[in-house]
Amino acid sequence: MKRKVIIDCDPGIDDSLALLLALNSPELEIMGITIVSGNVPAKQGAKNALKVLKLMKREDIKVYIGESLPLVRELVTAQDTHGEDGLGETNYEEADIEINYNGVDFILDSAKEGDVSIIALGPLTNLAKALEKDEASFNKLQEIVSMGGAFKSHGNCSQVAEFNYWVDPHSVKNVFDKSKVPFSMVGLDVTREIVLTPNLIELINQIGGNLGKFIVDITRFYVDFHWKQERTLGCVINDPLAVAYFIDRSLCEGFTSYLDMVVDGIAMGQTLVDVGEFYRKEHNGLVLTKVNSKKFMEMFLYRLFPDNKKDIDLVLKYYN
Ligand code: BDR
Ligand code: CA
Repeated sequence: MKRKVIIDCDPGIDDSLALLLALNSPELEIMGITIVSGNVPAKQGAKNALKVLKLMKREDIKVYIGESLPLVRELVTAQDTHGEDGLGETNYEEADIEINYNGVDFILDSAKEGDVSIIALGPLTNLAKALEKDEASFNKLQEIVSMGGAFKSHGNCSQVAEFNYWVDPHSVKNVFDKSKVPFSMVGLDVTREIVLTPNLIELINQIGGNLGKFIVDITRFYVDFHWKQERTLGCVINDPLAVAYFIDRSLCEGFTSYLDMVVDGIAMGQTLVDVGEFYRKEHNGLVLTKVNSKKFMEMFLYRLFPDNKKDIDLVLKYYN
């Protein structure tokens, strides 16, 4: 049975890779894609989602723009990481498709149908707004799997803060405090291990045709950023792990805990994981701490390039 999902995202290079994985996953019925401001302003993110849909000939899936500003903070984007256009400054042709402007209502209307989950790949503003607007309908969602936060890993925006949660910590706090929907945090502890290495990028270049060319093109900027910023060769692709985990629970392990969010001060954006049970509060999330990165990469590449499994196996021998 297919599971009904909304993909809430801010594409974004790794968001686009996550969309590609979702579009190639028969377990998912993608009800729509909602866009939030994060890596780029929401309007630009929507254009990028449409470019991915056009490439995959899936223009039947609707894109809805949601919130363009975080709840309280000013918007800070990540155009230094993802490029001015959010797709590594590749300037692929825009798809001439209508964009809808009611992302928050779309989330609520879908939630009312029942059995709908959200894979959230950006700041949680759309989710927090939906929760604020109609808590009862929001709580009908089946599950939220969110790429964001960090437990023991250092942050990528400050020592303690991961980008998605740092952009809009107030939204995260509201979701942690008020949502009754089962919540999994696919944070930097696990996503940092998902590296698209130069070897894998070259494999994609060799086997990938048009889709491969798109991936090689959009990741170029991201690879340069990773080298300059942290001397990583290749790029960390966070968001596809949330999609993969939604489909296959055996990819990651973790524990449930009470979660809270620091909304201001030097630790703004830090996820407080009450592993010591200091607050004695009901657990409101599952924190993932371990990942089988090779198994993820196999799933990712097999699904994107199903005709090239032999070549993928050859190259993945050296991936660990
Ligand atoms: C997250 O921040 C964004 O830059 C990525 O798209 C990902 O969702 C990683 O911290
Ligand atoms: Ca993202």
